[in-house]
Amino acid sequence: MSNHTYKLLISFVVISTQLLNVMGQNPLNIPNALTGTNFNLTIQSGNSSFYPGTTTPTYGINGIWMAPTIIVNKGDSITLNVTNNLSTSTTIHWHGLHVAPQNDGGPHQLINPATTWSPSFKVLNNAGTFWYHPHGLNKTDLHVSKGIAGFFIIHDAAETTLNLPHTYGIDDFPIVVQSKSFDILQQIAIATEMDTAIFVNGTLHPYQNIPSQVVRLRLLNGSSMRAYNFGFTANLPFKLIATDAGLIDSAITLTRILLSPGERVEILLDLQGKNGDTIFLKNFSSEIPNGVYGAATVTGMGGATITGYDQNPLNGLDYNILQLNIVGQTTTPIPITTIPTTLVTNTPWDVSLINDTKNFRLAPESMGPTFMVQGPFRIDGVNFDMDSINRICYLNNIEKWRWTNNTSLAHPIHIHDMYFYILNINGGAVPNYEQGKKDVVLIMPGQYVEFITKFEDFADNDIPYMYHCHLLHHEDDGMMGSFIVRQYRQGLYNISTNSNYEIYPNPSTNIWTIRSYDNEEILSYQLYDTYGRIVREAQTNNIEIQVENKLLNNGLYSLKIFTKLNSYSFNLIKN
Ligand code: C2O
Ligand code: CU
Repeated sequence: MSNHTYKLLISFVVISTQLLNVMGQNPLNIPNALTGTNFNLTIQSGNSSFYPGTTTPTYGINGIWMAPTIIVNKGDSITLNVTNNLSTSTTIHWHGLHVAPQNDGGPHQLINPATTWSPSFKVLNNAGTFWYHPHGLNKTDLHVSKGIAGFFIIHDAAETTLNLPHTYGIDDFPIVVQSKSFDILQQIAIATEMDTAIFVNGTLHPYQNIPSQVVRLRLLNGSSMRAYNFGFTANLPFKLIATDAGLIDSAITLTRILLSPGERVEILLDLQGKNGDTIFLKNFSSEIPNGVYGAATVTGMGGATITGYDQNPLNGLDYNILQLNIVGQTTTPIPITTIPTTLVTNTPWDVSLINDTKNFRLAPESMGPTFMVQGPFRIDGVNFDMDSINRICYLNNIEKWRWTNNTSLAHPIHIHDMYFYILNINGGAVPNYEQGKKDVVLIMPGQYVEFITKFEDFADNDIPYMYHCHLLHHEDDGMMGSFIVRQYRQGLYNISTNSNYEIYPNPSTNIWTIRSYDNEEILSYQLYDTYGRIVREAQTNNIEIQVENKLLNNGLYSLKIFTKLNSYSFNLIKN
């Protein structure tokens, strides 16, 4: 990719509604497509030019700005050789891909400067639009903002046989939208509230010629913080065909789709009969509800606001994102002229098969008022720590995870390794456009979301996967946790369905060890026999405790443990 020179009529500090709605001036970058089974990805730095007379240090893969699109088929065995030519360490995470933890590219798979990381794995996901981006500890926002983000498109047999647009860059377009902040020296800045430059595939003020037939847009919100309420000129309807992790059952007609950072959708637009027209992909942020970053207002209890938020003219504004010039139909491929109504069959796991329920709480750092809008935010009150494991999951378990947002800002929560189906939103129904496979879910202020998932194929006792807020500034600030997926330990007998405790061995002949994987301190315990008599009790104040049972009669016991906020009961066997 060569050095890009973008012409801009205005300086970013004087943006106004009219100026934001200027026509596209630059041809949309369609990232190079890489196909095959062996991929060489070189992370580099360089100087790009976005504003006249200034250069901006940027990062890219196989270029100095943005990254190529990787296109693979389900079932392929692939190797990705990721070489880091930056002067700083980084990682590359395959967002949404179901891979073993050592191949995941989270903060634990560091790629040091001048080294190559070569994960090899079989592509197990169904067809869908995924992406890849850096995930280094405290560096995700900076490295993504400086330009490292690429699409990872998977095809499979079910999708290929559907009559859908499939030709990359011709009738099937990758569209990653990213707002960025520039400082007064036109350098990319992070953790500001002034992300006023909107890039699509790394292009400012873009236009794209698009044929007057059925076309497919793969929309990805690759921004650090901002949500987009996508729609088109004159409320042109579109068909939703896929959510984060793949195709949905049948196409849904919509005129808007709200995408928070990390989320993807695939949509079809029927542009037949519109040859010669110009339409825009737009952000209707005036309709975004309070509390979602990008809305006109984000206010917490007592009118609390994010410092500097009201300075950004994009918040709450409706504006153009991408100009689409509708041109004649393609000769190759043969134009798609109809939209299939049924796509694939998704079969969410049955709730009666849930083996464990885990609860997660989003809250301000610690003592602050509960309903805050400004971070730092925490998950379950703890800061991300590279060396601790926050949750433990068991291979082939089906779990329900409930995420409760006790802040006044909406947080898009992303889980590595698996996809999930949303069971309910605050106990209520899930809108049809969120019923498909997801790996990011936006949790509204004061609400909770429950989803169901299954941990399949990969278990490892040491290497964790991440869950985190995909607002990159929050993630970098510690709004992240880790979980491991492990094989059932022999003799494990954990009866509690609402806790993250492991008890072993069980049955046991002399000692039970009880360990919290939430770092929840066990303050005390009581052990009861089958007559309900207390046979042991003690103050413990530890996340791992031991209960001696050598002198007890063989049989069933019930252990009750007390933490600061909860108590849990477990059935134990002495033999
Ligand atoms: Cu898109 Cu953990 O990241
Ligand atoms: Cu967040």
